[in-house]
Amino acid sequence: MTAPRAKITPHTIRQRKGGDPIVAITAYDAIMAHYADAAGVDIILVGDSVGNTALGLESTVPVTLDVIVHHTAAVVRTKPRALVVADVPFAEAHYDFDQVLRSCQRLLQEAGADAVKIEGGESLAPTIARLVEAGVPVWGHTGLKPQQVKQLGRYKKYGLNAKETDQLVVDAHALADAGCFSLLLEMVKPEATRAVVDAVDIPVVGIGAGADCGGQILVFTDVLGLTPGYVPGFAQKFADAGKLFARGLEEYAQAVRSREFPKSD
Ligand code: KIV
Repeated sequence: MTAPRAKITPHTIRQRKGGDPIVAITAYDAIMAHYADAAGVDIILVGDSVGNTALGLESTVPVTLDVIVHHTAAVVRTKPRALVVADVPFAEAHYDFDQVLRSCQRLLQEAGADAVKIEGGESLAPTIARLVEAGVPVWGHTGLKPQQVKQLGRYKKYGLNAKETDQLVVDAHALADAGCFSLLLEMVKPEATRAVVDAVDIPVVGIGAGADCGGQILVFTDVLGLTPGYVPGFAQKFADAGKLFARGLEEYAQAVRSREFPKSD
């Protein structure tokens, strides 16, 4: 009999720098978490993308801490082997330290997350260092920070010139020095990604940041072809579950209408 594979921790993720690629995916409920964990992913992110994927919102900005707590708890109840990371939603990481700590406390104690993810760079590094000191494992998220969409006016790629690349490296250094166990790098040109990967001794997991990252993350519904609307160009569909869902539901409706279901006793 083979021993059950050990739970993945921030420490084991940190040790993966230069090793096997890290596989990460988002999940927002128990069903998604079940399938993600059964597939053997390393990290399940309860991302604020729950807003645009599952809650019909136009961006991640309206997603609140209560929403992330609710969805993280559902994922955690499935007892995944994967590391469960809860997103710190819009603006929460910019309050005074006591409030940020309280938010992370809710994510770890009430929802049961193993770690939190925070969008930010150099300016948030002091807060992150204090969180790490308090025992909160932090996954830093830099490059495109979608929570800034109202300020940016659009989702854009980073590392397009030397100034942007230098800032990415400064941010990555600051986040690594603050004690992040890994970085998530979003929408970054491959040359700039290389500079970030080379600059830090923690693994960099990318989304739309090219092949040089130490792992990849995608949104669950994009991977399985379940996203009804816009899907970013960097996402790859690995199955067409949307078609299967549609066919199954049409067959069910047809069977009820034709009285083929249920079978008479
Ligand atoms: O919330 C999210 O889904 C994200 C993606 C970049 C993975 O942060």
